[in-house]
Amino acid sequence: MNYLVTGGAGYIGSHMVKVLQEHNHDVTVIDNLSTGFRDLISDCEIINIDIRDKSLVDKTLSKRNYNGVFHFAAKSIVNESFKMPDEYRKNNVEGTMNLIDSMKKYEINNLIFSSSAAVYGNSYNKIIRETDNLNPSNPYGKTKVESENIISNYCEAKDLRAISFRYFNAAGAHPSGTIGEKHEPETHLIPNLIKSIINNQYNFELYGGKDNLTNDGTCVRDYIHVSDIVNAHYIGMKKIQNLKPYNVFNIGSGKGYSIMEVISGVEAVTNKKIDYKHSEERQNEPSYLVADISKIKNQLEWSIEYNTIESIIETAWNWHRK
Ligand SMILES: NC(=O)c1ccc[n+]([C@@H]2O[C@H](COP(=O)([O-])OP(=O)(O)OC[C@H]3O[C@@H](n4cnc5c(N)ncnc54)[C@H](O)[C@@H]3O)[C@@H](O)[C@H]2O)c1
Repeated sequence: MNYLVTGGAGYIGSHMVKVLQEHNHDVTVIDNLSTGFRDLISDCEIINIDIRDKSLVDKTLSKRNYNGVFHFAAKSIVNESFKMPDEYRKNNVEGTMNLIDSMKKYEINNLIFSSSAAVYGNSYNKIIRETDNLNPSNPYGKTKVESENIISNYCEAKDLRAISFRYFNAAGAHPSGTIGEKHEPETHLIPNLIKSIINNQYNFELYGGKDNLTNDGTCVRDYIHVSDIVNAHYIGMKKIQNLKPYNVFNIGSGKGYSIMEVISGVEAVTNKKIDYKHSEERQNEPSYLVADISKIKNQLEWSIEYNTIESIIETAWNWHRK
């Protein structure tokens, strides 16, 4: 099969490219390399364009008969989205519109979209179901709600089939250790904890507060291994013709870990002590985000390979050390 991966030079997209190649599919990547890295992918065509550029997107999609599109390209730094909400909307929402307009034009009918748990906002210590209210607490989450709505409308009106996967916290690296989480700047907890060990950094700053209604007062998140995420995409694309035209699934582990528990996990895996201090809470940071994953397990028959936070951290540690 021929697949197009937008944002394929990014963290999760590059793992998708690798899995598709492992299954002997042909992959083309669209990426403007704004936050991605060319060295995360190999053996495929990389088209360096911006998904906001309609004519270049048209030109790219007209060239091959793609069987489907995996759409990862987006800006996704929550704090930055408060500073430049318009830029986030243009990039994530208008970019998505361009892409699906072009897909329709060239009769490419299967789409998998990277959505986010950020669509829900604060769940106030309840496990989150796909049917829960959408109440994003930041501009980034709003762009994902808007994109989902556009995709859903297309599926109703035209002949598009799509899945929006709402990921909770992606983490870990490919088991081969050849690719892993590479963001610049890095805002995610596990890579930053590991980097603080590698760089002998003292007084690691912990954002997210210590006054939440959780057991130890720090935010609770649901961490899911990047390989489990892209595996869900692979299964989703294979089954897309047998599902309703539009579907939404959470992808998480169904388990929550507080920041303090993640620190303990990193310390256990690396056998090093982390020296940290608490910093001010981030703006509108939900205290608890944990997924109900019964829908994806039942409907896609997806299962999790990396079941513990330690097994996820182990792959990240393996990659960062290299
Ligand atoms: N990492 C997470 O924990 C997480 C959680 C929930 C949702 N997501 C979503 O998953 C997707 C991938 O996230 P990631 O962590 O791999 O991010 P990333 O920044 O590593 O990857 C995004 C890629 O898209 C490219 N890109 C961005 N805007 C583009 C544009 N206008 N045109 C062309 N290419 C563009 C970037 O260069 C980058 O390679 C994003 O849509 C993100 O919102 C990520």
